Amino acid sequence: MSALDERRASFQRYKQDVKERGKPFYPYAMFHDTVMSLVVVCVIVGLACVWYLTSHEDPNRCQPKWSSCMLGPRYAEPADPGTTNFVPRPDWYFYFLFYLLRIFKWPDSVILGTVGIPTILLIIALVLPFIDTRRDRRLSRRPVAVIAAILVVISMGELTYKGAVAKEALASEVVAAVPSWAQREGFANNPKAVSGATVFAEAGCTACHTYLGTGGGNLGAPDLSAEGTKGKGVQGLTSYISDPSKFGNNVMPKFAAFANIPAKDAKGKNLGISELQALAIFLDASKGPK
Ligand code: HEC
Repeated sequence: MSALDERRASFQRYKQDVKERGKPFYPYAMFHDTVMSLVVVCVIVGLACVWYLTSHEDPNRCQPKWSSCMLGPRYAEPADPGTTNFVPRPDWYFYFLFYLLRIFKWPDSVILGTVGIPTILLIIALVLPFIDTRRDRRLSRRPVAVIAAILVVISMGELTYKGAVAKEALASEVVAAVPSWAQREGFANNPKAVSGATVFAEAGCTACHTYLGTGGGNLGAPDLSAEGTKGKGVQGLTSYISDPSKFGNNVMPKFAAFANIPAKDAKGKNLGISELQALAIFLDASKGPK
């Protein structure tokens, strides 16, 4: 019997089975799913009502916890887009993706890692039923699928673990880029500029600014790779970074230790005068990549 005949015969057997012992999808399975979805929606709406009715406009009224705000306060602290001492981390079940993003570096391979590979895997999963038409379901007869599944589980476990223990890698990754900055910008033989570059990497400037492709580019912060060509000078740059609000920049935090801000309001890292000066020398030496 040819493979095609075999497949036709097994399809007939399947149709016969459904006729004799099965129930059709409509209306049986449809009804089940509809009832179950309704239950889930009702539970969510119920929880939302409990949360709303037990919480208050004022989060300070959430004491004692067990009698009010059963499902958390109505509002938490307002979001602060300018924070530099917070490293955003995903929920644990996204750690593996989070770590993948560190393996693939912008801009060379990020598209491959985030769009290319998932798309290829999805296409394989979609065409698999058409390629593998065997009816045998025993695991021992499906070595390729079993090994592939085990490898996926192991690598996701490994990536999840690495994502979980990766600490403050943002700053350390930026610090690791300093030698290549010094080389490309040509200030490698200026130790003050190099130490300023390290301060720049550690103080969280790249949360907003970009420098030679590293960093966020957030909140309208300009690229600083060629800041030294703007003629501000070391003195001008020092006073700018110390207190940017004096120059009409209310987005960027004050970085000077002497800016006289209470510690709890200091969003940026407080820098001493020598660190500020090194930073300014570094920016002044940044004339753009050679
Ligand atoms: C919260 C985001 C943020 C952080 C963190 C930040 N900046 Fe800025 N910075 C800005 C924004 C926004 C501007 C542009 C303001 C404007 O154009 O008026 C700016 C402007 C500047 C400028 C002037 C650029 C120009 O050409 O006009 C310099 C220099 C600068 N930042 C240096 C730094 C340094 C050094 C650090 C780290 C110690 C830092 N910034 C951290 C947001 C930030």
